[in-house]
Amino acid sequence: MTKKRYTVTSALPYANGPLHIGHIAGAYLPADIYVRYRRSKQQDVVFICGSDEHGAAITLRAKKEGMEPQEIVDKYHNLNKKSFADFGIDFDVYHRTSDPLHHKTSQDFFSELNSKGAFTQKTSEQFYDEEHSQFLADRYIMGTCPKCGYDSAYGDQCEKCGSALSPSELLNPKSTLSGNEPIKKETKHWYLPMQDHADWLKNWIENGELDGEKQHDPSQWRSQVIGQCKSWIDGGLRERAMTRDLDWGVKVPIEGEDGKVLYVWLDAPIGYISATKQWAKDNGKEWIDYWQNDAELIHFIGKDNIVFHAIIFPILLKVHGGFVLPKNVPANEFLNLEGQKLSTSRNWAIWLHEYLKDFEGQQDVLRYALCSTAPESKDTDFTWSDFQTRNNSELVGIFGNFINRVVVLTNKYWEGKVPERHELDSYDQSVLDEMDAFPEKIGGLIEQYKLREALTELMNLVRLGNKYLADTEPWKLKKTDEKRTETILNIALQIANHLMVLSEPFLPFTSHKLQEMLNVQKSCWDKIKSIDAAHHVGKASLLFSKIEDELIEQQMAKLGK
Ligand code: MF3
Ligand code: ZN
Repeated sequence: MTKKRYTVTSALPYANGPLHIGHIAGAYLPADIYVRYRRSKQQDVVFICGSDEHGAAITLRAKKEGMEPQEIVDKYHNLNKKSFADFGIDFDVYHRTSDPLHHKTSQDFFSELNSKGAFTQKTSEQFYDEEHSQFLADRYIMGTCPKCGYDSAYGDQCEKCGSALSPSELLNPKSTLSGNEPIKKETKHWYLPMQDHADWLKNWIENGELDGEKQHDPSQWRSQVIGQCKSWIDGGLRERAMTRDLDWGVKVPIEGEDGKVLYVWLDAPIGYISATKQWAKDNGKEWIDYWQNDAELIHFIGKDNIVFHAIIFPILLKVHGGFVLPKNVPANEFLNLEGQKLSTSRNWAIWLHEYLKDFEGQQDVLRYALCSTAPESKDTDFTWSDFQTRNNSELVGIFGNFINRVVVLTNKYWEGKVPERHELDSYDQSVLDEMDAFPEKIGGLIEQYKLREALTELMNLVRLGNKYLADTEPWKLKKTDEKRTETILNIALQIANHLMVLSEPFLPFTSHKLQEMLNVQKSCWDKIKSIDAAHHVGKASLLFSKIEDELIEQQMAKLGK
């Protein structure tokens, strides 16, 4: 039997601006936790991401900053790549869609689909800005949403009510280039008739079946993911244009079709494949092994990308052939900030690169706070005061405190030498049994994408350790019952070692510090090695430090400025 492979992707962020906590909470931190867990189990996993460098998102930004699109993507690709790395989001590859390898991969993908008759070609009237002599991509048109009446909806989506739109549905459409009302002009495009795929899609999404085979367990999919897909399918799938008139992007690989590029649907998700190819080339692997047979493809995304990854991309993969379809699409809802929607234009956001500067060395605090309030099943709210409390009471007060007590006591009474374990009483045994159950408990939750709950369980292991020390008070027994003290400390050290392994997906920097403090090897998630008596631990150092009110007030003052 071949070893199972996991291909984990996070939505390619547009290289048109820096990353904020909404991105991180939605698509990157959850994926990173999941991947680190798989790696800790020594499973074969590849973690794929990169910059999405095409489309109107980029050209609009370039216009705004008075730069060329290539300069824009170079700037933000490098900034974002660095922010991710600094924050411990540990991609195996962070590729980019402007890379020639990606252009070729996307073009070949299009050609294969085209030769299989996947598209219909149609001439239709599209919005055109006469002043700028340019067809208008959906994002270049704004108007009133026909569903909710919001007056600044984009041509492809209303950001207020979340409806997917096409530009002709907008009331009072305006070109964002000139502000004029656009005219309509004829142009030819390639369309994907999604309605032809409705039957198998429905069966695949609702029952997890494809070509008569069970592919996944729908009860493992989040209800909002299935719900959104159902409402799309039941509302009637339509044909969708897969190409656009734009001069920035992957060119349609057909002679004489200048000025046309592949739309994001045939570009960005193919970027997952291009990135896998790049990684495989650099690491002596076969990329296709990660996309076929028993490979498990898992897409971490925000809820605005559900239809894209659970309907459109699967259609493309299936029609192309030779690929697995996603095993799961664990989409997250949105994260709000201090009770309001994140807004990049109003600077109602916490920017990752700024956080990394203002809270140097405190990546794990943000990771902890974001995972604790992860919007897994509904929108959630990030507040600076919650962040502070989680750090000061939970990380410093509970986690840091436990580790500190254990390491300090070991150094104080035994000069850093792990004491021996003597006869166990029933309480010791029950603590050890409870400890042993945590890897499976936390792992099971991670495998179900319940990362918040998994993190709660991790903290429950810390609490178990704290309670054990509080109940047994080994520092009081040192003079009267030396053996008892030794046994208790030995057990507490085993808990600390478990914490080193089990905290790694969530708090990798902390886990690393703890590993150095305990002076131990990393162990595999399922086979955590006990620390032997006589092993020498290092000196205690602080895992976390208190965050003062002043720093929080400074952060609050930055919002909206
Ligand atoms: N860059 C786009 C977005 O952020 C698409 C990301 S999903 C992917 O919405 F599949 F294209 F990567
Ligand atoms: Zn709307």
